[in-house]
Amino acid sequence: IKVTIIDREGVEHVLDAPTDMNMNIMELCKAYELPVKGECGGMAMCATCQCYLESDTPLAEQSDAELDMLDQAFYVKPNSRLGCQIPISEEIDGIVLRLAPEAE
Ligand code: FES
Repeated sequence: IKVTIIDREGVEHVLDAPTDMNMNIMELCKAYELPVKGECGGMAMCATCQCYLESDTPLAEQSDAELDMLDQAFYVKPNSRLGCQIPISEEIDGIVLRLAPEAE
């Protein structure tokens, strides 16, 4: 599937994402060496993988852990998501995500 990531300089990266490797968006960004830290390793505990959903891709409901983390994060918008909580699957083909600014 295709995943578009807009980096913090506004550059669009259209990435090929495998659906059979049990990966999430945070891991995909790291695999392509985009500047996503993913400090907690995908546990919804750091928000360094925060991004904004810019396509109308239907995503699964956010977990309580994700909502709690976003409650404490910086630069949160209504369309904020944690990249590590978005599994790569056929359903998200064509998704467009913009990386949130890095919190100091
Ligand atoms: Fe830490 Fe996603 S990698 S919240």
